[in-house]
Amino acid sequence: MKENFCLFLFLLVSVYYAQAQETVLAESMQRGAEIYTDFCVTCHLEGGEGITGTFPPLAKSDYLAQNREASIRGVKYGQQGEMTVNGVTYNNIMTPMGLDDDEIADVMNFIMNSWGNSSDEIVTTEEVLAIEK
Ligand code: HEC
Repeated sequence: MKENFCLFLFLLVSVYYAQAQETVLAESMQRGAEIYTDFCVTCHLEGGEGITGTFPPLAKSDYLAQNREASIRGVKYGQQGEMTVNGVTYNNIMTPMGLDDDEIADVMNFIMNSWGNSSDEIVTTEEVLAIEK
């Protein structure tokens, strides 16, 4: 009986925690969507599809899915040089956009969980802060 009660409590806390995390993500994505519209959509386009050969896609991007830290670093400090995204080579320039760390976290949460993308772990301001050039 006691074990059952402990199990029940554990489940309750787990469900509560999962729901709280979902809310944090949803709110971050909402702010991130606005930042995306203001700063990213001109190159990566509305559906995150980019322009093949010029602006790499974010939607279903293998680069983004597999290079979390490098992707954040690129948005934070700018990104140039050769990179391969979904089998296509890009050698272009993304200039830094001067976003704050919390804004970068929000826009990353938006792009990493939109257009069929999904990420297990929420990007936090602390994570962005810790990423160096
Ligand atoms: C002026 C056009 C431009 C804007 C605006 C821009 N990017 Fe980029 N982005 C690029 C280019 C070009 C690259 C590839 C750079 C290279 O070839 O090294 C890139 C690469 C990336 C990558 C890694 C590659 C991939 O496709 O997964 C991510 C992630 C990314 N951008 C996110 C963003 C986000 C988020 C914003 C808005 C905050 C943004 N970009 C704004 C042009 C842009």
